[in-house]
Amino acid sequence: MRPVFTDSPWFGGDYNPEQWPEAVWDEDVDLMRGAGVNLVTVGVFAWALLEPEEGRYEFGWLDSVLDLLHENGVKVDLATATAAPPPWLSDQYPESLPVTVDGIRLSPGSRQGYCPSSPAYRTAARRLTRTLAERYGAHPAVVLWHINNEYGCHVSRCYCDESASAFRRWLEAKYRTIGALNSAWGTAFWSQSYGSFEQILPPRATPAFPNPTQSLDFDRFSSDELLACFLEEKAVLREVTPDIPVTTNFMGTFRNVDYWTWAPHVDVISDDLYPDPADPDAARGAAMARDLMRSLGRGKPWLLMEQSTSAVNMRPTNVPKAPGQMRALSYQALARGADGILFFQWRQSAAGAERFHSAMLPHAGTDTRIWREVEQLGAELAALGSVVGTRTRAHAALVFDWDSRWAIEQAGLPTTSSYLALAAHWHAALTEAGLTVDLAPGDEDLSAYPIVIVPSLFVLTDAQAAAIDAAAAAGSTVLVTSQTGIVDQDLRVRLGGYLGDLQSTLGVWIEEFWPLGGAWARPGAIPVAQESTVAPTVRVRGDVFGPEAATGIEWSECVHVRDASVRAVFEGGHLSGWPALTRKARGVGAAWYLATRLSREDTASLVAQLIADSGLALSASVVGGESGFVETVQRGDALFVINHGSTAVTLAQEGVDLLSGADAQGMTLEPQGVVVISPRVALDSAEPAVAVVAAG
Ligand code: GAL
Repeated sequence: MRPVFTDSPWFGGDYNPEQWPEAVWDEDVDLMRGAGVNLVTVGVFAWALLEPEEGRYEFGWLDSVLDLLHENGVKVDLATATAAPPPWLSDQYPESLPVTVDGIRLSPGSRQGYCPSSPAYRTAARRLTRTLAERYGAHPAVVLWHINNEYGCHVSRCYCDESASAFRRWLEAKYRTIGALNSAWGTAFWSQSYGSFEQILPPRATPAFPNPTQSLDFDRFSSDELLACFLEEKAVLREVTPDIPVTTNFMGTFRNVDYWTWAPHVDVISDDLYPDPADPDAARGAAMARDLMRSLGRGKPWLLMEQSTSAVNMRPTNVPKAPGQMRALSYQALARGADGILFFQWRQSAAGAERFHSAMLPHAGTDTRIWREVEQLGAELAALGSVVGTRTRAHAALVFDWDSRWAIEQAGLPTTSSYLALAAHWHAALTEAGLTVDLAPGDEDLSAYPIVIVPSLFVLTDAQAAAIDAAAAAGSTVLVTSQTGIVDQDLRVRLGGYLGDLQSTLGVWIEEFWPLGGAWARPGAIPVAQESTVAPTVRVRGDVFGPEAATGIEWSECVHVRDASVRAVFEGGHLSGWPALTRKARGVGAAWYLATRLSREDTASLVAQLIADSGLALSASVVGGESGFVETVQRGDALFVINHGSTAVTLAQEGVDLLSGADAQGMTLEPQGVVVISPRVALDSAEPAVAVVAAG
């Protein structure tokens, strides 16, 4: 297979020339050359133009576009164009349209209007993929296949009859017998015992809570069904063009698809991310998404397939990116392992649903802030070839698990949780402490990480319990937080005090949950600041938090200690005096348990304690907190420092800034400022790089 990444980072975006008269294309490629564009994604939503009637193709325009790009030195990530079926498909095969949980069949006139289980859709998608592969597989511009687009973005669950049949087939393959299914689903409760697989439906709208295991299996099935669509197209491409790698663009920490199961099938991990410039935590949340992409590829370089140059159009109000913010977020992706920075899209549309979404080339043309920022970034990236292919070094692992995510967000539980908020909170706390974090599914070896955080791993498998225990035994400092190990993979409660096998790792068991009331979920993308909603709290007192009591938020529980030391207790309320934080020496490592959720400030104190416990040394402060977030990431030889905050900071790190050629030490880094410092600081001891001191 041909390598995708070459001498310098990819730079470019979605290119949709079909929206424009041919006369514009020459200007496009001239400007692309000028801006340093070297890769564009072509044809993502062009199905209706490529195949205007079933089996009749019009390739002339695409032939010209690919030739033109090639003549101008621009490579192509060629889409299979299957993400937006044309009107003729739903006209001829109305059953290919998706159906919602309430039984409403969605109409054409938008995009992604297909049921993932629809044979008509799948047949048509395979046929188009084969036709494109045969026609363009040998085209010298094509370096990558872009299968479909953002699987599941709009339709990740379909409840139609064809989906029901596919769900039944999936269940039969999993359980073999209806007895096994009845037992796994606990159907003795509420008279749900099934006599045969034929009786089973997707969890459509029901009078009361649906069966929890049925719902979780439908989540798993739906992720697998979209993956099956991807794999069908991939199989065609492999057969026709075995040398050309494939990708499909993921969507950060997207909820509805389990990216751990997808990642091994994707040659190049790629991501679309649209942090909200109006969200002060946007860069923190984005850092987590980038770390997930790196981790999905097990450390391999990945591609930022889409981001915006400025405003999007999908939110009620669409704030532009601040001057420099697009650049800063681009470097964040590069620092965290991306080898290419691409955008949606090259030229801002004049018509259609996304005409007010920013692009590399704005409506107003080239005499614009956005265009100047694009040109600057393109020129800078062209000089950063030394970064391509290098690895980002992580100090901590954060277990992130889709089964737990889907299960802890079901109805009928002790409280309402946003799994993403629970995990993002810890990711942000570690990141602000200067650590770089890998995400991990939790059932693989974790022992190389000095610190392992396990936030609310509600569904705990035996393999996960074993990996977490092994990490502590081998020397990691492990923190497990509340609502972990409550159920097994069938959502059956782990009896006898919850936590399953982690009881012996942690030296504690749980008698009773004591939620403090209120809903904890925070709307919006990757919510980091859990305390931002007004939440019921409880005081938590222990040395870890200094002389003042810490604040436990919304959750507490009655913890019994078997063989751990109590490091903090609840103060006040029904659980006054009961353990809130424990630590057990386990092997040559340690296993901590936290029985509440902490404010941001108190989380930072606990993280500092975990860092000390792990032997990682933090020798100076990294600016964070209220003034914003200064990010430090070591990638290969280069230390990236990015100021996402609102005040300038001064660098303490020796070295040369690769972007400006200036001495880094003593340099003032303004808000949205970036430096890429070379040579590397010594990180052999796995210690975090610390390069920043507060100005003034
Ligand atoms: C993505 C999508 C693009 C475009 C973009 C707008 O979801 O892949 O086609 O719609 O968002 O932000």
